[in-house]
Amino acid sequence: MTVPSAEQSERAEYRVGSVAALERGETILVDAGDTEVALFLCRGQVVATQGQCPHAGGPLHEGEVEGTVLTCPWHGWSFDLTTGGCEEDDSMHLARYPVRIDGDDIFVAP
Ligand code: FES
Repeated sequence: MTVPSAEQSERAEYRVGSVAALERGETILVDAGDTEVALFLCRGQVVATQGQCPHAGGPLHEGEVEGTVLTCPWHGWSFDLTTGGCEEDDSMHLARYPVRIDGDDIFVAP
């Protein structure tokens, strides 16, 4: 059994945006270290996902969110922001990242 060291088990955290900006309807796509992250407001909660669609790389931050469902702007595939599941293909999964809010600041640990 391999036990991760403290250094390996802690993920780097990045400040990636503002809650107020999401509430104004701004779309947010940022680099968090080597990872492109898209931010969404989903039923009042901030959700961070991979920036590109797992289907063919569409820009997910330009998609529409209705309820908990994000629709990709390129081919219209739908992803549940609460689970990462894809309605069109069970084998597709949207990566979601831990989010921490501090005041207006959004921090993500991809
Ligand atoms: S690239 Fe997103 S549905 Fe095709």
